[in-house]
Amino acid sequence: MKTIIKNGTIATDSEVFRGDILIEDGKISAIGEDISCDDAKIVDASGMYVMPGAVDVHTHMDLDVGFARAIDDFYDGTVAAACGGTTTIVDHMAFGPKDCSLWHQVNEYHRLADGNAVVDYGFHGVIQHPVTADRLGELAEIKEKEGITSFKVYMTYDFGLQDDELFNVLRAAKEAGIVITVHCENHGVLTQLRKEFIEQGHTEAKYHPLSRPPRVEAEAVNRMIHLSALAGDAPLYIVHLSSAEGLHEVMKARAENRPNLGVETCIQYLILNDSMYDDPSEGLKAIMSPPLRKDQDREELWQALSEGGLIDTVATDHCPFHFRAGKAEKQYGKDDFTKCPNGAPGVQERLMLMFSEGFMKGRISLPQLVKYASSEPCRMFGLYPQKGSLEPGTDADIVIIDPGKVTHIDRDYIRGASDYSCYEGMDLEGSIEKVFLRGKEIVDNGKFLGEKGEGKYLRRGPSVLAKR
Ligand code: URP
Ligand code: ZN
Ligand code: ZN
Repeated sequence: MKTIIKNGTIATDSEVFRGDILIEDGKISAIGEDISCDDAKIVDASGMYVMPGAVDVHTHMDLDVGFARAIDDFYDGTVAAACGGTTTIVDHMAFGPKDCSLWHQVNEYHRLADGNAVVDYGFHGVIQHPVTADRLGELAEIKEKEGITSFKVYMTYDFGLQDDELFNVLRAAKEAGIVITVHCENHGVLTQLRKEFIEQGHTEAKYHPLSRPPRVEAEAVNRMIHLSALAGDAPLYIVHLSSAEGLHEVMKARAENRPNLGVETCIQYLILNDSMYDDPSEGLKAIMSPPLRKDQDREELWQALSEGGLIDTVATDHCPFHFRAGKAEKQYGKDDFTKCPNGAPGVQERLMLMFSEGFMKGRISLPQLVKYASSEPCRMFGLYPQKGSLEPGTDADIVIIDPGKVTHIDRDYIRGASDYSCYEGMDLEGSIEKVFLRGKEIVDNGKFLGEKGEGKYLRRGPSVLAKR
């Protein structure tokens, strides 16, 4: 099967040009001007942008948090991803049972994803306490057998790690050539503040951000950067950076040329602000950690993306729970914000939000959009150039965007299992016209054409952070 995408405005992370892409047997076989091939199907992309499929390296499909389970499984969640132009995800695993082997969740996640996902997928491993020599010995084994080259640690939640454990993990990861991704928040401070608010009867959603102020993030970012340096510049990737204070810690590290540091922000921290928590009921929709911040934080994050060299990727932390339907898990926080499961949807919205609010509004260029949404996530997590590029010989994962149409975010737009979007009511400039996964058209003008289980598991190579 051959396809030519003709006359599009093709964008990579380094250039934008008018041209064609020839796809053969699921791969890009040529890219340039005036490509012809007798037996190829022609897709006319005149007036449209043609880019690598987007790659979301921070999702939580089917996440089990004990008292609730994220409602997008690997099928629903990846249908939402596909419809939003994302052709690859790298999913963060839930914690396993206490004392379990690191293999436990790897096996569990294959059970959840294999045969269900409709886009290609990989996993980040997860490390929980206690951190023992046996567990750390499994890092190299899992890298070798599964191609899992990144593991996550949390500085908070019930299975969060202490400094000695974080240090040991970082040293072992450096030795194994693995990147450690980290959720940075100071557990002691946020736990104390949460306790005090509830004791004082301050139970509404608006106390969620107040219990996790920006410095809770900034202190933890700073600590992790130093721990990584103490561990011999162990490869470190900070997930979901949300605040200007956190960003200032990153700026200091960049100014010192600290090596092996990757930084991610998420789309919600670029688009939304903490006024979402003002309404005690609606505010539950946006309970996530770290919380939404002020407009000043948003502006500094956009500025950092525009300047370059500070933040590497924009992901989503996609982790939806129902607000009204089914068990309406978000309502667990109705009388006590600390009982609300953390997380919100975003995997479908991310690319078009970046396109409309980032590129079309002049905050980032088209190559920067491709870089933050596709290519750099792949470099960070050992998927480049197979994913995130348009180089001949690589997977033909391609998204076509029509800038002349509007994406209206309402309930009908939502393709995952979620019963809400934090972006409901927004009209975005541009619309996803077509999405190709390994050469197969899986989305056409909002219609999902793919099949359950078509997504392939991705064994990943080393992160660029582990090679430096
Ligand atoms: O609130 C969030 N972010 N939930 C998902 C788990 C995490 O912290 O990444
Ligand atoms: Zn997190
Ligand atoms: Zn997360």
